[in-house]
Amino acid sequence: MAILSDDEKLETHKKNPVIKPDKNVYDRIFENSIRPKSFDSYIGQTTLKETLKISIEAAKKRNTTLDHVLFYGPPGLGKTTLAGIIAEELNTSVKITSAPSFERPRDIIGVLMSLKEGEVLFIDEIHRLNTVTEEILYPAMEDFYLDMMTGKTQTVKTMRIQLPKFTLVGATTKAGGISSPLRDRFGFVHRLQFYTIDELTQVILRTAKILNIEISTDSAKEIAKRSRGTPRIANRLLKRVGDFAIVKNNGKVDLNIAKDSLNTLKIDEYGLDETDRDMLKLIIEKYNGGPVGLDTIAAALGEDVRTIEDVCEPYLLQAGLLMRTPRGRKVSPEAYVHLGLGIFNEK
Ligand code: ADE
Repeated sequence: MAILSDDEKLETHKKNPVIKPDKNVYDRIFENSIRPKSFDSYIGQTTLKETLKISIEAAKKRNTTLDHVLFYGPPGLGKTTLAGIIAEELNTSVKITSAPSFERPRDIIGVLMSLKEGEVLFIDEIHRLNTVTEEILYPAMEDFYLDMMTGKTQTVKTMRIQLPKFTLVGATTKAGGISSPLRDRFGFVHRLQFYTIDELTQVILRTAKILNIEISTDSAKEIAKRSRGTPRIANRLLKRVGDFAIVKNNGKVDLNIAKDSLNTLKIDEYGLDETDRDMLKLIIEKYNGGPVGLDTIAAALGEDVRTIEDVCEPYLLQAGLLMRTPRGRKVSPEAYVHLGLGIFNEK
């Protein structure tokens, strides 16, 4: 591995898009090392946690499996973490999978048949399951069996195979992308909320402790403010800021270091990065504030529509900088003020 000089490290930090909440391989390894393992150490999503705790307790008392659970909401809010906690609280294990890996019927059948009694099966991006896989899942979810076809066309026979009882935890960023037969088979459907600044501050302080990063509460809060309500981004920013602190301040994260490094990463006080600001600027400067369609915005920015739709847009909407209208996206008066651009014309 190449050894980078301090300046090169800072350059690398500037180039990497820290704020994209999509998970990559690096995140998976990093997140596994800091993931809370119980409801007690899981910060935020209070209502959801309380509901889940009661349902888990009830399932244990009844000696049955927990009903299937569907989580939806923007990426990076802790859906996988919650699946792990559910398994832990049920005193069982979790099999983590993702819908795109189920290409052929035998892929899902293999996983279902390898489950242990009472185990949790987590399927990420569940809106991306193909129809055949979905149809195999229906009887498995409802009554824990599989119907398998054997033989050739003339002599085809159906063989019913009993499966171990399990709890499916599905996760999606697009609740609307799930077919109703699949959605109807979940006993619980929960939306994950963006985190408050206080909750993110606590997440950052907890992670800093695990990673041995020395950080003041006001710096943790500064990082929290710029983490767009998302723990994955907060933890990534903490790591970046921690690196800056090692290079510039003997590893101590104080408010100056936090602000300096976040500014170098070009993340502003709203937590917006260059793509977000380019998107708002484009709508203001080229489309007079909107409305304009998502496809047009993505093409003009040279970005993938999915990145704009799943990553930039949910936070810009939540921050009140962007509005959805039947004719497309429109920026809000606050976006003009935030970017210090032109005069807002109400249309
Ligand atoms: N790390 C990431 N998400 C977290 C959460 N919700 N609570 C504690 N630590 C976290």
